Formats: sequence, structure tokens, C-alpha cells
Amino acid sequence: MLGNFVYCNPTRLYFGEQALDGLQKELEKYGENVLLVYGGGSIKKNGIYDAVMRILQSCGKHVIEDGGVMPNPTVEKLYEGCARAKEGKADLILAVGGGSVCDYAKAVSVSAYCEQDPWEKYYLNMEDVDNQIIPVGCVLTMVGTGSEMNGGSVITNHAQKLKIGHVFGDNVMPKFAILNPKFTFTLPKYQMTAGFFDIMSHILEQYFSGEDDNTSDYVMEGLLRSLIHSSRIAVNNPTDYEARSNIMWIATWALNTFVAMGKATDWEVHMIGQSIGAYTDATHGMTLSAVSIPYYKFILPYGVQKFKRYAVNVWDVDPAGKTDEQIAREGLDRMEAYMKEIGLVMHISELGVTEDMLEGIADGTFIMQGGYRVLTHEDVVQILKASM
Ligand code: NZQ
Ligand code: ZN
Repeated sequence: MLGNFVYCNPTRLYFGEQALDGLQKELEKYGENVLLVYGGGSIKKNGIYDAVMRILQSCGKHVIEDGGVMPNPTVEKLYEGCARAKEGKADLILAVGGGSVCDYAKAVSVSAYCEQDPWEKYYLNMEDVDNQIIPVGCVLTMVGTGSEMNGGSVITNHAQKLKIGHVFGDNVMPKFAILNPKFTFTLPKYQMTAGFFDIMSHILEQYFSGEDDNTSDYVMEGLLRSLIHSSRIAVNNPTDYEARSNIMWIATWALNTFVAMGKATDWEVHMIGQSIGAYTDATHGMTLSAVSIPYYKFILPYGVQKFKRYAVNVWDVDPAGKTDEQIAREGLDRMEAYMKEIGLVMHISELGVTEDMLEGIADGTFIMQGGYRVLTHEDVVQILKASM
């Protein structure tokens, strides 16, 4: 049965080859000072920086630059961004980049005027925002996280060996997001496929939970089928607009809060993946791909019926003459074969994880309550060992 909920998603999306035309309309709504946030330089190479700058200048904006946001943004970078936003009296934070840049922009948005230490307040203590928020808009260049239309913001603290996400409310979600699939064509293949699996993982985290009959599960099966289909095309031809645009839209749907409404969710794969990220700084999507098959094999006995449904409805496993468990396992086998086919990382050792890190990674893994099995510390270690 669907639980009760209030649903609101305030992000205005501009989608398609002309999406950047929407930027001017949005910029007119905000004051003069724009904090322009971007990553390590990809936007300067592919021309997106110049295109955005032209629009900012034509709107008469005063631009304060804040580049160099690293993948898996750090708490030190957050402090730096807060100072810059405050000093420049930013009226808008414009994030031009992937999930890291968007997440960082949201973190600066809630932290610039926060009197306490934002790492402690928002990430360690999960407190709500009670200070001024600087509005965020984004121009997306990397597909996967869904950060363009959600309140999520993940920050890494290397000194404490913790990578933590805070899901802020709708007042922190981007006010607008520009989604031009062509902006993602220059992504290196490793990042592109990591993003594909991030999308798949977001859907699975919300699918493998609960045993009730709810509409979201049907929606998610459709999203998964479309993702599998389009990602196979995109891996062979990264400039196939039809495939890349479908994937961009699936990514947004996968984590714009819609499919989670009224149903239980898991998120344990992300908790393990984030802890791996805190130790290795590895690419987010690959931390998920490397642990997913061992995790799902581990919990399968506790949720056989859902894994059977997944096998039949998503992977077209023929159920005739097989036990429920055989059908369920065949589904995971097909998923594993697909993951290898598109070139995902299947072992955490390839991400720099060594045996002596496993206990620490398990210590840094938050244990969720919504999956088919609530893991113990030993369970996490066992899954990590199976992922090596
Ligand atoms: O920094 P630059 O030079 O721009 O290069 C980036 C970066 O190296 C590059 N890139 C991005 N767009 C490109 C491009 N290169 C060429 N052409 C383009 N068009 O790609 C690399 C990765 O970018 P990043 O933003 O780090 O990737 P992603 O979008 O996967 O974001 C990862 C971060 O998001 C968090 C992750 O934990 C991680 O910190 N997540 C955020 C979520 C949310 N807000 O809800 C949920 C996710 O589960 C995830 O945890
Ligand atoms: Zn993710």
C-alpha cells in the first residue's frame, strides 16, 4: 500500500539541443552577482564555459568565478566556496558541470550564511537549514546523479575518512536546470558508463525494498528497460543523440524524488560505495558497480519474490520449469553480463581498495533499515571481501 506523502519538485527544466536558451530567462530573475561554479576545466575545453559566459555578460551579470571543484567535492573546498560566495554577495550560484559541481553548489548555498560548521551541522548531524539560502541553478554536463533535480549534496571529508550525503528539502533544490544531451558527448567513456550505472543503482536502491504493490515499481521497470536498451547503443556510439537524450531523462527521473514517493527504499549499495569513495576517492558510479552483484546475491534469499519479478520483467528471464530462486539468480546473472558488456568496474581492488581497508570501510558504512536485510558489520565485510 502506498504510504502518505506530500510531493513537490520546484526545479524548472529546460531540455534539448536549445536548452541553454532558457538560461537568460532564468538569470533575469536574480540579482547582479553570480557565483559561477565549475570543475577541473572540461567546460573550458568543450566550449560550454564560453557559451555560458556570453549569456552571463549579455545579461549584465557580475561573475565571481569558483572553478576547480573536484570529483567528490571536499569539505575544504566547501569552506573556500562559502567565503567566496559571501564576499561576492552572490545572488545566484550557477553550477556548470556534473553531480560534484551541482552537489557542491547546494552545499555552498546552505553553508555560506551558516554560523556553525556546515560539515558538522548538515553532514554529521543531519540538521535542517535555518539560515539564508543562496538560490542554485545548474547547467548539467555529466549524467547520472540526478543532482540537477533533487536536494542531494554529497561531501567528502578525507581527514575523517567519511563521505556523507545530506538530502536537503525543496527550498535547496536547483531553481532551474539546463539539460542539453549534446553537452555530455565529450565525456570520457569511463565517466559515461559510470554514470549509466549510477542511474541503474538509483533505480535499484528504490526498487529492492518493500513487498507491496505500488505504481513506482512498474515505472522503475520501464526506466530500467529503457536504460539498458539506450546504454548499449551509447556505449557503441556515444554521439547517438536519441540514446544519450533518453539516458539523460532517465537519470533525472531516477532520482528526482518521484519514484520514491509512498514506498520504502534501501540505499545500502550507496552507503557502501560512499565509504569506499572516502578511502579511495574513486569514481562514484564505479564504487557502486563493484559491490552491487555481491550485495544483491547476499540479500537475494531475503527478497526472492522481488528478485524473481526483476528477472522476468527487466531481464526477460523465461520462468518456465524453474524455481523462484533459480529465476531470481538468472536475473542477476544477466545483469552481471550486461555490466561486463558495457565495461563497468566489477572489483573494488581495481579502485585501489586493499584488504587492510575493509574493516575501516565497513566502519564508515551507514546501515540502512529499508532493504531486504538489515546488514551487520560482519555482513558488510563479507560483501566487501566478495567484491575484491
Ligand atoms: O571537473 P571537470 O574537468 O569538469 O571533469 C569532470 C570530472 O572529472 C568530467 N566531466 C563532466 N562533464 C564533462 C566532463 N568531461 C568531459 N566532458 C563533459 N561534458 O567528469 C568527471 C566526473 O564529474 P562528476 O561531477 O564528479 O561526476 P558525477 O556527475 O558522477 O558526480 C559525482 C558526485 O555526485 C555524488 C557522488 O557521490 C559524487 O560525489 N552524488 C550525488 C547525488 C545527488 N546529488 O543526489 C546522488 C549520487 O548517488 C551521488 O552520490
Ligand atoms: Zn549514485
